[in-house]
Amino acid sequence: MRKILAGLAGVGLALTLTACGSEEIPADSVYANQGALVGISMPTKESERWIADGDAMVEQFKAMGYTTQLEYSDNTAQMQQQQVKSLIDKGSKLLVIAAVDGSQLTDQLKLAASKDIDVIAYDRLLTETQDVGYQATFDNKRVGEMQAQLLVDRLDLNANDDKTYNIEWFAGSKTDRNAKSFYDGNKAILQPYLQSGKVKILSGERSFKVMTTEGYSGKVAQDRMTRLLDEYYQDENVDAVLSPYDGMSIGIINALKEKGYGTAEKPMPVVSGQDAEIPSVQSILNNEQTATIFKDTRELAKVAVEQGNALLTESEPIVNDTTTYDNDVKIVPTYQLNPVQVDKSNYKTLLIDSGYITEEELKAKA
Ligand code: GAL
Repeated sequence: MRKILAGLAGVGLALTLTACGSEEIPADSVYANQGALVGISMPTKESERWIADGDAMVEQFKAMGYTTQLEYSDNTAQMQQQQVKSLIDKGSKLLVIAAVDGSQLTDQLKLAASKDIDVIAYDRLLTETQDVGYQATFDNKRVGEMQAQLLVDRLDLNANDDKTYNIEWFAGSKTDRNAKSFYDGNKAILQPYLQSGKVKILSGERSFKVMTTEGYSGKVAQDRMTRLLDEYYQDENVDAVLSPYDGMSIGIINALKEKGYGTAEKPMPVVSGQDAEIPSVQSILNNEQTATIFKDTRELAKVAVEQGNALLTESEPIVNDTTTYDNDVKIVPTYQLNPVQVDKSNYKTLLIDSGYITEEELKAKA
């Protein structure tokens, strides 16, 4: 019976409950979490994607009869610690967290565990802790591979000729484990071309440590790109820039434009990205950014909400990966979704027709 009840969708469950009369429900049954508070903690409102993620989860949890509290922590680990603590104090039964710094919530998660609060790592791994149950994310290494494959395809690196190309390489925040996965994916694809000399990095900056970007900040990326252009590209042009995230790509493109790129004599390099944020889709349509990786936040939210509902109703959360996400204490059972490359040729079908972005939004902010 428990299993069957647990399998019911939340809305259906809520209806069944009303019909039964809640006073008959034993406190320790699966009904105990009906209408429970779900605490959602997201890293920043500066990026559209996290706003979309938060909104999608609130909507979906509410449709299942839960109550929600959504917090954003201004890209500050300390603020997120306080917010998570307060979500616990307010009586959350489930926490869904996209961490600013995956390793800085250990104490709060310990407290959550002591109160039997379930924890889902959202998009980003919660590291150095036992106290995380599941993760919902995208195939992060694949994201990195696709970003680098864009360079291979657009520069035609497999052509049988003597041409060589200059690229520069950026990584995300060192406090986010995904950043390393993106880098690893980039590297898996790029390595042979770097080894053969087909691709050169004039700055020589190619280790993860030297190329991370605090908070995935567009400004920090812009400053680094400006420095690289000043120091290494007085006599040569850069042909591609490997950027892990749209907000950074915009900063990088600003730096390039300031140095005269984007003209017939000095074409815009190939520039990758991630998240299909509106400014980047506009930039793609404007022939500046080359492509982005679309990770449908509605789908990610759906997975996290399904996992959360399963935990709250004592059934098995969905997972499809039980080997990859080692958080230094345990392997976190994960459901990975597939990312998709988006460029000018397919943005309409993938982003507009699917309702992820509207034509009006693209025009409005242009
Ligand atoms: C990563 C996430 C990316 C991007 C980036 C910057 O953790 O997987 O999709 O959003 O953070 O926010």
